[in-house]
Amino acid sequence: MRLAIVEGDGIGKEVIPAAVEVLDALGLDVEKVPVELGYGKWERTGQAITEDDLKVLKGCDCILFGAITTPPDPNYKSVLLTIRKELDMYANIRPIRPLPSVKGILGRSNFNFVIVRENTEGLYSGIEEIGQDISWTKRIITRKGSERIAEYACKLAKSRKSQLVIVHKSNVMKSDKLFLDVCREVAGSKGVEYTDELVDSMAYKLIRSPERYDVIVTTNLFGDILSDMSAALVGSLGLLPSANIGSRHAFFEPVHGSAPDIAGKGIANPIAAILSLRMMLEWYGKMPEAALVEEAVDAALTEGITTPDLGGTYTTKEMTCAVVDYIRREKERTE
Ligand code: NAD
Ligand code: IPM
Ligand code: MN
Repeated sequence: MRLAIVEGDGIGKEVIPAAVEVLDALGLDVEKVPVELGYGKWERTGQAITEDDLKVLKGCDCILFGAITTPPDPNYKSVLLTIRKELDMYANIRPIRPLPSVKGILGRSNFNFVIVRENTEGLYSGIEEIGQDISWTKRIITRKGSERIAEYACKLAKSRKSQLVIVHKSNVMKSDKLFLDVCREVAGSKGVEYTDELVDSMAYKLIRSPERYDVIVTTNLFGDILSDMSAALVGSLGLLPSANIGSRHAFFEPVHGSAPDIAGKGIANPIAAILSLRMMLEWYGKMPEAALVEEAVDAALTEGITTPDLGGTYTTKEMTCAVVDYIRREKERTE
């Protein structure tokens, strides 16, 4: 496997090395291709990502990505959005489930749902005009874009409880009527049970009764917001992994950003990055390795090893060490 490794900025430089240590402990045959991208590179060279970088990314089987800082500078185009668009990674998959011994908000632990976020259009079209008195951003919803994300969500739902919720705001934005109609058509044709919710009410219901949900399909910005909100249900943004899937490429990254407030302190939670690696292994068909990573994370958490975001006192390195040691012990035991 040729794997592009992008640390990026801020805590990306701390959590990706942690995930790579875990990958190394698994002893798989992986060619690692480091790629420097992001705000730091932009400050240094004037370019956050180059055409050559994109070629390297496209030449790899998949990408493990940390986080990138996006300054509010109109001349700086988000690297992450560039990659998602250029590699046409249309499905952003964000599983939301509790982890052992971790207390989320309201102490809930009986939920397990997945946010399937359309990843290439909606309000992330990049078509906008910024003026002194009026600024606007075009929101694009297409039949093709809605169809393919609905198909992805239905396939996933069929491998789970087959319950789909289509999340939209078609009462205000008529563009969402197309999204809703197409998702309904696809779910109907695939035999997947579905309901729909307005996004504001969905936010309320997800906090109030998360156990009711299985697969949520939604447009780009709503999926972004609902996933960070759901991180509070689990206990920390530092725990949520994600996969960006396209027809030819796949890209795995924590849901969180570069966290400038804690960057450089050595206390970032590496679990979101490590579980993103786990999603990558699963995508690559390395099921025993994926299961071992999950087991190792669960074991460390159950032992009470946690970083400050979860109320613990362990550092990124100590947390990573606990996971890596477990994997090494298990491998020695079974070899
Ligand atoms: P953020 O996700 O970086 O941080 C939000 C809060 O969560 C902060 O308090 C942070 O300390 C905490 N947090 C996040 N990850 C954590 C971890 N692993 N361990 C412990 N605590 C963690 O969001 P933000 O502060 O709004 O954004 C910072 C920068 O990151 C912005 O420039 C934004 O554009 C960018 N961003 C990038 C990505 C990405 O590259 N995938 C995702 C989101 C935000
Ligand atoms: C995410 C991030 C990105 C998004 C930003 C950094 C462009 O918040 O992956 O959730 O909005 O998609
Ligand atoms: Mn986000």
